[in-house]
Amino acid sequence: MSLAFSLLRPVLHSMDPEMAHSLTIKALASGAYPRCSAPDDARLEQTIFGLTFSNPVGLAAGFDKNAEALKGIFAMGFGFAEAGTVTPLPQEGNPKPRVFRDTESQSVINRMGFPGLGADVFAENYTRFCEKYKTPKKIVGINIGKNKTTEDPAADYLKLATHFAPVCDYLSVNISSPNTPGLRDLQKPDFLIPFIRDLKKITGTKPVLIKLAPDLTDAQITELAATLLEAGIDGIILGNTTLDRPESLPQNFRGQTGGLSGPHVKAKSTHAIARIYAETKGKLPVIGVGGVASATDAYAKIRAGASLVQLYTALVFHGPALVTDIKTGLLRLLDRDGFKTLKDAIGADHK
Ligand SMILES: Cc1cc2nc3c(=O)[nH]c(=O)nc-3n(C[C@H](O)[C@H](O)[C@H](O)COP(=O)(O)O)c2cc1C
Repeated sequence: MSLAFSLLRPVLHSMDPEMAHSLTIKALASGAYPRCSAPDDARLEQTIFGLTFSNPVGLAAGFDKNAEALKGIFAMGFGFAEAGTVTPLPQEGNPKPRVFRDTESQSVINRMGFPGLGADVFAENYTRFCEKYKTPKKIVGINIGKNKTTEDPAADYLKLATHFAPVCDYLSVNISSPNTPGLRDLQKPDFLIPFIRDLKKITGTKPVLIKLAPDLTDAQITELAATLLEAGIDGIILGNTTLDRPESLPQNFRGQTGGLSGPHVKAKSTHAIARIYAETKGKLPVIGVGGVASATDAYAKIRAGASLVQLYTALVFHGPALVTDIKTGLLRLLDRDGFKTLKDAIGADHK
């Protein structure tokens, strides 16, 4: 943890979590942010679905919902960032308070429900970033979701794909947030096969990834792997927050409705990554998300089958220096295990 963040953290953590987050976004958007200027080590570079990632550590969706802070986010050293979830129309989300942090376990529960400024404002913000700062190295995925009251979920996603596929590096289809009623029910073959085919007609060669819940059973993962291969998806993001509530969490925290993120989702998401990698025989690139707070955590997901990782909650507790720490630590772990490059370590646990 950097000295600046160790001084700032008590101030931020004395505030309501959503207020602290809004201030962080404002600071990042206004240019008040830490800069990591060290170039990435070539051993961490990979080309996946036609995109060259200079390092495998990405920012997970939900942090920059309206694409306001991408310049500052890349200055932290991330290899890629996922903006959104963006919905077609602006919406308020669930009533506040709706984000809860537990310092002891370094966990968050959120039931935000996709609050956001909507596709038009998102597009304005994203265009501004592209015009001024976007380079091929700054890989941006746009994470799309449906409005709460929409009658036709597929129509919302197709509309957003038409809007954003031409301008993003990859599209991430979020059907796994636990906070939008009915959303996780879309993780079914009957819906997914025609839906993904319709999406792919719109997106053309632009990679389309699907973001799944870590709460899927092994049987559901087996079925989904076949479905996603058949439908022609380009990659999988695994996963979103969990509905689990481990007994060890304090009662007033674990009693909150919403999705739990941080260390308690780590093993579950890594298990799901290993299952999907095995079921697809490594044919679909996986982005591993859930409880990544160190190089060891990231490496476990890579060995289980993830090509890239993302994080959100650990940033709240460890601050931006974590990104550099993970990259440096990954190089040490590759050396320890005798891998020349990161690519060689992907799925190593299956070999
Ligand atoms: C406050 C908060 C808001 C989130 N919002 C979104 C979102 O809008 N879309 C999405 O796909 N995931 C969202 N997520 C889930 C994260 O992207 C990630 O999948 C999950 O938190 C697990 O990773 P972590 O343990 O590193 O946080 C959110 C997570 C948090 C903590």
